Amino acid sequence: MSDAVPQSIVVPLTRAAIFLVATIDPGRDNLGSVRGLCADLSGLLRAVGFRSLDGGLTCVMAFGSEAWDRLFGAPRPRDLHPFREIRGVHHAVATPGDILFHIRANRMDLCFELAQQIMARLDGVATIVDETHGFGYFDQRDLMGFVDGTESKRGQAGLDVAIVGDEDADFAGGSYVIVQKYLHDLKGWQTVPVEQQERIIGRTKLTNVELDDATKPSYAHNALTTIVENGEELDIVRDNMPFGELGKGEFGTYFIGYAKSPHRIEQMLQNMFVGNPPGNYDRLLDFSRAVTGSLFFVPSATFLDNVSGDAPAVAAPPDAPSEPPAPARPSPAGDDSLGIGSLKGASAHE
Ligand code: HEM
Repeated sequence: MSDAVPQSIVVPLTRAAIFLVATIDPGRDNLGSVRGLCADLSGLLRAVGFRSLDGGLTCVMAFGSEAWDRLFGAPRPRDLHPFREIRGVHHAVATPGDILFHIRANRMDLCFELAQQIMARLDGVATIVDETHGFGYFDQRDLMGFVDGTESKRGQAGLDVAIVGDEDADFAGGSYVIVQKYLHDLKGWQTVPVEQQERIIGRTKLTNVELDDATKPSYAHNALTTIVENGEELDIVRDNMPFGELGKGEFGTYFIGYAKSPHRIEQMLQNMFVGNPPGNYDRLLDFSRAVTGSLFFVPSATFLDNVSGDAPAVAAPPDAPSEPPAPARPSPAGDDSLGIGSLKGASAHE
């Protein structure tokens, strides 16, 4: 058994979250800067989180398939690949993303402060391609009015389904995460009778009770996302968040799902977008459009802590093959920054 410590994937539900997806700008130095941030992230998190101990601040940092090769080279996580778009009855788009930050806390100020500190380190290094600020909405409801997250795994059960074990020993303690940003047609949804909405979700709206098998259609969301292989139910850890912007008429759900293998989440998506059997698709998608879609690997916290500033010798980035290697660390002091880079002590990063 590996003793690698996972990042904070399975945590109590929070009232706020920021989802940042960024792409790394071309240039080999930028890889060194991102690697420097990897090693410093836990220090940044302590620095911000310690200012409000009951705020429950956590942050997960994850990497897209191509970014992994550029940043870390070989070996690579066994099941890491770019998000595969699905063209079924509905379209699951694939959108760019090298790095994901999933920041959660009970207060938005904590999330925002950490996001700000992270982006100060990535200024001129990476570009945010999607930023979503999520909020807890009444009793864990999504903006369509249903309680969301009931059957997501928590505690030890969450770790069991989300964390890579000995099957990929080099990356034990890691996880895979898929994110998709959905925009809802709330006006359309509100014209659907509540009984039909309940059949689409597979649970009652007010009381959140699962429909019995006689009432629940095979196209219900919770039927299509229940994956059974060899008699075993393959679960995931979810922590969806509502978001919105009234001026734009934007009402959404940010889907985030973690699992020890991306396969089970991809199977759920296949069932939702294509249908199971094909054509028997998820009617939730008639009122919810996926506008992003990316897959990332979440290395263990132990892995992140041990990243040094040097980009890998192999897998030189195609944009700058002849540049010299990046400096070991971005210069932490001697400028007018807050000296964040030195929070953990320079010696901690090799
Ligand atoms: C528009 C986006 C989505 C919304 C609003 C949504 C909402 C919900 C709701 C209300 C439930 C029932 C309560 C619960 O157990 O959480 C649920 C269940 C679930 N959803 Fe989603 N969901 C969305 C997208 C997805 C996607 C993309 C996946 C997977 C790829 C997914 C996987 C699941 C799973 C695994 C369950 C639990 C099934 C069970 O065991 O009962 N959801 N979702």
